[in-house]
Amino acid sequence: MFYNTDCVEGAKKYLADGSIDLLICDPPYGIGGDTLHKHYNRKETLVLDGYIEISPGDYPDFSRAWIRQAERVLKPGGTLYIVSGYTHLIHILNALAETSLQELNHIIWKFNFGVYTKNKYISAHYHILYCVKPGAKHTFNTCSRYSDAEKAQASGGSLNYQDREDVWTINRAYKPGQIKNKNELPLALLAKMIQYSSNEGDLVGDFFLGSFSTAKAAIGLNRRACGFEQSPVAYNHQMIGMKDLQPGFLRDQFRTPPPKTYFQQGKPLTEAEKAAIRNRFAVLQQTGLTQKQIIEILGQETGRGPWSLQKVIRGNRN
Ligand SMILES: C[S@@+](CC[C@H](N)C(=O)[O-])C[C@H]1O[C@@H](n2cnc3c(N)ncnc32)[C@H](O)[C@@H]1O
Repeated sequence: MFYNTDCVEGAKKYLADGSIDLLICDPPYGIGGDTLHKHYNRKETLVLDGYIEISPGDYPDFSRAWIRQAERVLKPGGTLYIVSGYTHLIHILNALAETSLQELNHIIWKFNFGVYTKNKYISAHYHILYCVKPGAKHTFNTCSRYSDAEKAQASGGSLNYQDREDVWTINRAYKPGQIKNKNELPLALLAKMIQYSSNEGDLVGDFFLGSFSTAKAAIGLNRRACGFEQSPVAYNHQMIGMKDLQPGFLRDQFRTPPPKTYFQQGKPLTEAEKAAIRNRFAVLQQTGLTQKQIIEILGQETGRGPWSLQKVIRGNRN
């Protein structure tokens, strides 16, 4: 399912209409990516050669061609994420506007190791366009990483809300001494898109595989993967390890919500249950615990949320 070819020709040849659930595409940026190591002050010997760039003059037609293929191969309701720098963003937005794809969010990804500049601000973000193909309900697993009930310890704010804000701060992986592709995306960033926008067993595609990071994250989270990389150097280097990857190998590494604590939430309380809760509350009160601590214990024991427990206990007092 991984092809060493140009993505537009490869998609036409190998991918049927409406066959992909989720596409994550990080096209070359058209800013001399083949010399990026100079900007990032990286050791050239550790950066894999053979990155294929697009010239600025070709960028509009190139964007139109691959985005049209992306639209075709996505299932109705399928999702496309496009990672882009600022320089050619306009061509990507223009190409998207010529398709039926709908942009639901324009995400800013803030990372570390921005390109150092002295006489202007340091650029430390990329754009991620989150788009869906109309025609069916798109997958968005709202509680795939944080449940509605989880709160930040310091501020008390909702972790689910914070994780779903459209500014993401995720650091690039620091891999001293290891060979890497130019512009390798962190697995944590890819895992977040995959968790929210696909389910286990879904097919996840990437038109610009580079270091195959999308494919690795997808297989690691028990999805199927496919894609294209035009550079034979990058393709051959990465393909060596791909067949050894165990499906699901990343499942324990990324955030998932804890098992539901209040498993009885929403079910009506019987009079017998209410009486049992009041009795237990009275017993726990004698131990010197605070009301908050007792409610927490009762929540674990009964599967009821704090609000309904407080109501039952107040009923006892009245
Ligand atoms: C920005 S990098 C992708 C990096 C990748 N997301 C990662 O995490 O490693 C873009 C990649 O697209 C490849 N490429 C350029 N033009 C291509 C084309 N027409 N079809 C397929 N791959 C292409 C480049 O060689 C490069 O490896």
